[in-house]
Amino acid sequence: MKKAIIYVFSGTGNTKKICDLYKAEFEAHDVETTLFELKRDMSELPSPDGFDLVGFAYPIHGFNAPHIMLDLAKALPKRAKGDEKKYFVLKSSGEPLKLNNISSYKMRAILKRRGYAQFAEYHYVMPYNMIFRHTDSMAAKMWRTAKELAPVEARETLDETPHILKGVPFGRFIAWLFRIEQPAMRVNGRMFKVNKDKCIGCGKCVKACPMGNISRGEDGKFRFGGDCVMCTRCSFSCPTDAFNIALLNGWRVNGKYDLDYVGEEQKSKHDRYCKKAYKRYFEAAEQKIDCAKQNNVVE
Ligand SMILES: Cc1cc2nc3c(=O)[nH]c(=O)nc-3n(C[C@H](O)[C@H](O)[C@H](O)COP(=O)(O)O)c2cc1C
Ligand code: SF4
Ligand code: SF4
Repeated sequence: MKKAIIYVFSGTGNTKKICDLYKAEFEAHDVETTLFELKRDMSELPSPDGFDLVGFAYPIHGFNAPHIMLDLAKALPKRAKGDEKKYFVLKSSGEPLKLNNISSYKMRAILKRRGYAQFAEYHYVMPYNMIFRHTDSMAAKMWRTAKELAPVEARETLDETPHILKGVPFGRFIAWLFRIEQPAMRVNGRMFKVNKDKCIGCGKCVKACPMGNISRGEDGKFRFGGDCVMCTRCSFSCPTDAFNIALLNGWRVNGKYDLDYVGEEQKSKHDRYCKKAYKRYFEAAEQKIDCAKQNNVVE
């Protein structure tokens, strides 16, 4: 039986959901699939050697991969010359701008130096976990689209069909410029605050942080370290919205979306934001899904 591994980092679950769809499709085709969820401690990192198919999955942060993906690329074993390992990339983001196509540049360059070669990259639009809150109707539309599109693209991945996203002019420079976000988020993460009047002391945030960056002293006070990757898992999943995420607090999004929403289309003051780009994304996805259905690739 063939084996696949996807190394996944997911702050609030969107990217993980896409990986779950890939896993289901791979396993429907007899490919045993491991989803390895990344945390700061990479001492237990499985080697990609034992796997026929290797993938990396992440949410786009500031038009880049979060720095934990760069740490992962550096932690993988270096391969001998002539023994390149192929890999694919899955990523999710809140908006469908082409600029997001540049997000893997740095990770890809590190992986190339270590003997790994990318053959495919797929991008799924999922609800924002930061910047602004999409309506549930929009979030559900994104999820419905991903649920139909991911199996089609998982099939392409199984066949190792090349799929490289088109770059943008000055993409490398823009990606470099936005990587300032990475050290900035470490500093910003130290300045998080918890509103003690709202906090119910459930400890969810401490347990959830993938970087082990949050601790709570015996005095009940929260302490935030310098390893934040700004995944927003703590603030997004706090049941009482008690977090203040420092400089980015104006962009905070709290609480799960209703991805199964089936009611009327909801209006939002952000409806005009990237309207054309969302339209293009949904139309292209629909075309690809229809084509796969006509060719009996999927039901
Ligand atoms: C720090 C940060 C930066 C982000 N930057 C972008 C971005 O540049 N472009 C974008 O479309 N979405 C951006 N987003 C939104 C996420 O990429 C999106 O919500 C993603 O689906 C979250 O996936 P996750 O639940 O797996 O973490 C950003 C989110 C965060 C927290
Ligand atoms: S998740 Fe929210 S309510 Fe629970 S301990 Fe953390 S800050 Fe307090
Ligand atoms: S402190 Fe919060 S935003 Fe930062 S890495 Fe931990 S869970 Fe993510």
